Amino acid sequence: MKPLKIAVLGSGKGSNFRSILSAAMSGALRVRPVLAASDNAGSGLLSLAENLGIETCAIEEPRYRTRLSLEVENALVGRIRESGAELVVLAGYMRMVKQPLLEAFPRRIVNIHPSLLPAFPGLDAWKQALAAGVETTGCTVHFVDAGMDTGEIIAQSEVPVLPGDTAETLHARIQEAEHRLYPEVLGRFSRRELP
Ligand code: GRF
Repeated sequence: MKPLKIAVLGSGKGSNFRSILSAAMSGALRVRPVLAASDNAGSGLLSLAENLGIETCAIEEPRYRTRLSLEVENALVGRIRESGAELVVLAGYMRMVKQPLLEAFPRRIVNIHPSLLPAFPGLDAWKQALAAGVETTGCTVHFVDAGMDTGEIIAQSEVPVLPGDTAETLHARIQEAEHRLYPEVLGRFSRRELP
């Protein structure tokens, strides 16, 4: 079976993208990143991709902060289609996904979120977990729908909240779990196990 072609979208430092790349380069994961797109020109995602000769797309959207305008999202759909990506992988993408992307890639957009959804959707989920005083949190990979972290759950990984945890230590522990979980789930897609 051919490696699964993926487009990765993110706004931040790109540590999940790095873990996917490492798994792919070690041969443990049969995916081929064909596009890395970011709405943040300083995102680690773009520099990682550039260093590896993966095509990049710098999304420019000065008008809105939490979504893309229809025009910009349609252009992004065009770039993803041209890349031949079979799956759109959100890795720290900080905007809501709207109809152009959802209609173009039904059940083919996934996201990773730093909590055990449906608990703690939205921003800074690890801070929400600390404030709620839970003993266990974690991360979730889910299909993306029009809601905020509401799509069908594919897989989850639990992470303990330890005495003395700060937002930083807890987030770091959750990210370690993310870096294992996302490549595992993408492996299921690459083996065409997820309809
Ligand atoms: C991760 O914690 C992910 O769960 C959330 O955004 C963060 C992205 O981190 N959606 P990185 O850019 O992959 O390091």
